[in-house]
Amino acid sequence: ETLDSRWGEASPTHDPQILAHFRPRSTDVLITTPPKAGTTWMQQILYQLHSGGDAGFSSIDAVVPWLERPRVGISWQDRLAQYEAMPDPRLFKTHCTYPQTPGGVEVARIVLTSRDPRDCCVSFYHHLLDFTDEMRARVGIPRPESFDAYFEDWLAIGTWYRNVQSWWPYRNHPNLLWLRYEDMKRDLPASIDRIAAFLGLSIDADRRPIILEQCSFDWMKKHADKFTRQGDDGKHQFKPGGLIRQGRVGDYRALLSPEQEQRILAQARAQLKPEALIFLGIADQVAGLR
Ligand code: A3P
Repeated sequence: ETLDSRWGEASPTHDPQILAHFRPRSTDVLITTPPKAGTTWMQQILYQLHSGGDAGFSSIDAVVPWLERPRVGISWQDRLAQYEAMPDPRLFKTHCTYPQTPGGVEVARIVLTSRDPRDCCVSFYHHLLDFTDEMRARVGIPRPESFDAYFEDWLAIGTWYRNVQSWWPYRNHPNLLWLRYEDMKRDLPASIDRIAAFLGLSIDADRRPIILEQCSFDWMKKHADKFTRQGDDGKHQFKPGGLIRQGRVGDYRALLSPEQEQRILAQARAQLKPEALIFLGIADQVAGLR
């Protein structure tokens, strides 16, 4: 069977078969993000809201699976059967662009988080360094030779841009809630209230402090084990602490040269609408480009 190219190319983290055959439900909630924009944080927030503050899970991926990620030793048909058997409401993480998302905004509800591309770029570099050697060999991603070499690849591959650009036209759709990482950092309680209101969930007053605590950076860092994505064989795929790293806004300054920063912004100017640049909080910097 030949699949429509809209479902994307197969890779160790992207199985177009799963996407093409997945049956979304109106009760589903999909988290979608450009990589490093706070995906794991949002997985935790949604799980905490739905479970009323459960801390007993061993891996966030077991309760909020990564939709399009193939599992070693499991066929896509079996993976879909596992998804079918999940109780409602099902929560999923994805990094899909809009056309790759089964049902688009018409069926499930979607929570999207974006983040300054400069911070996403630097965060992804640390992410690659955090892979265990075993995981690196399995997915065939070499350790970056230098930050500069990594940077060129990040820009050329352009995932951040493609993701944001594809979702932008739907930002005001009633089934979509678009949050910014920077706003979540500034005011987590208000962000959690917005998410709960969007999903029609009420937060039990007794559980609210626990939920907030368990969505904090410090709590997640302390329990990083739950977030390092267990491999299919139960092993960790990241070195201790990987994925929950620093959680700061503007951390890119430590690594990006002024020239690299300008190139990230110039590509944003070339690929995104002016309103998107304003919304993302980078319009002023883009306007200041030479
Ligand atoms: P840094 O590398 O800048 O620290 P993703 O889950 O999409 O891969 O994103 C990972 C980024 O989110 C990392 O950024 C990580 O530290 C940050 N993060 C994870 N949990 C967080 C939390 N509770 N609060 C703030 N940032 C968080």
